[in-house]
Amino acid sequence: MNTGEYKAITNYVFNTCGIVLGEDKQYLVQQRLTPVLPDLGCKDLTDLAKRLSGGVTSFVTREKIVNAMTTNETSFFRDGHPFVAFRDKMLPDLFKRVRERKARSYQRRGPKVSIWCAAVSTGQEAYSLGMLIADAVKLKGMGTVLLEDFGILGTDISSRVLSKALEAKYTVLDVARGLPPEMRDRYFERDGDSFHVRKEICGMMEFKALNIQEPFSQLGGFDVILCRNILIYFNDDAKRKILAQFFQILAPGGYLMLGSAENLYGLNKDFVTERYGATVMYRKP
Ligand SMILES: C[S@@+](CC[C@H](N)C(=O)[O-])C[C@H]1O[C@@H](n2cnc3c(N)ncnc32)[C@H](O)[C@@H]1O
Repeated sequence: MNTGEYKAITNYVFNTCGIVLGEDKQYLVQQRLTPVLPDLGCKDLTDLAKRLSGGVTSFVTREKIVNAMTTNETSFFRDGHPFVAFRDKMLPDLFKRVRERKARSYQRRGPKVSIWCAAVSTGQEAYSLGMLIADAVKLKGMGTVLLEDFGILGTDISSRVLSKALEAKYTVLDVARGLPPEMRDRYFERDGDSFHVRKEICGMMEFKALNIQEPFSQLGGFDVILCRNILIYFNDDAKRKILAQFFQILAPGGYLMLGSAENLYGLNKDFVTERYGATVMYRKP
C-alpha cells in the first residue's frame, strides 16, 4: 500500500466514523483490514483503496470497515472508580429526581431517569450501571423507586458489538474481567459456558446504532451521559461539536463522564467540573 492508498483508506475511515488515523498507523490499518478483504471482494489493500476513493460505497462495505477499524475494548466496571462515583454520588441524586418527578407528574409514563452510554461497545458498561441501580433499588427503593423508573440507552456505531450487547450473553472470560462474583451470581444465569444477564436488568436497556459524529440532539433529555474511551480517537473539532450537544441534551444538574484519558480542556467551558474520589465528573449547572 503506497502513501496515496493509505490516505484514501484513512480518509474514508475519518469521513465514516470520525476516527483519526495518523501517518504512523499503517500497521494497524493493515492488521485490521487484511482479514476482511475477501468478504469485500478485494484482492489487496490497493484494490480496497481504489474502491473507497471511487465515491459511494455499499452499506455492507461500510459496516465491515467500521466493524474492523473500531476499537471495542471494554469490560464490566471498567476502571472501577467511576462506578463507585456513580453508585455513591450520582445514584442518591437520581433517586431524588425519580421521587421529585413522580410527585410532580405521577402520571408520566416510562422511565423517570434516563442514562445514555454513548459508545457502549458490547454492553458491559450499560449492564454495570444496571446492576448498581438494581442493588440500590433493592436496598433503598422502599417501594417508591423502582427498576422501571430507570432507562439506559446504549448506542454504538458498530453493528457487530451492538448485537452482542443486545444478546446480553457473555463468556467465562468476559465475566472474569471486572465483574465481582457476587454480582455475577445475583444478576446472571449460567448456561454452560455462557452467562446471560437476567431479565430484570435487561428490562432497563435499549440498544441502537448511532454515529455520534452525526447530530443527535433529537435523542431527548438525559440525566447522565457516559462517553468513555471514544473521544480520544476524534479531532478537536468533532469533540467540541459532540460535547456541545451533550450539554444541550443533559437535564440541569445532569452528569457527563468521560474516559480517564479524556477531558474538556480547551474544548468546552459550559460544564462545571466536580470530583468524587479519583473520578472527574462534568455537570450542567
Ligand atoms: C474503546 S470502546 C469503549 C467502550 C466503553 N465506553 C468503555 O469505555 O469500556 C469505543 C467504542 O466506540 C465506538 N465508536 C467509534 N466511533 C464511533 C462513532 N463515530 N459513533 C459511535 N460509536 C463509535 C466503537 O465501535 C467502540 O465500541
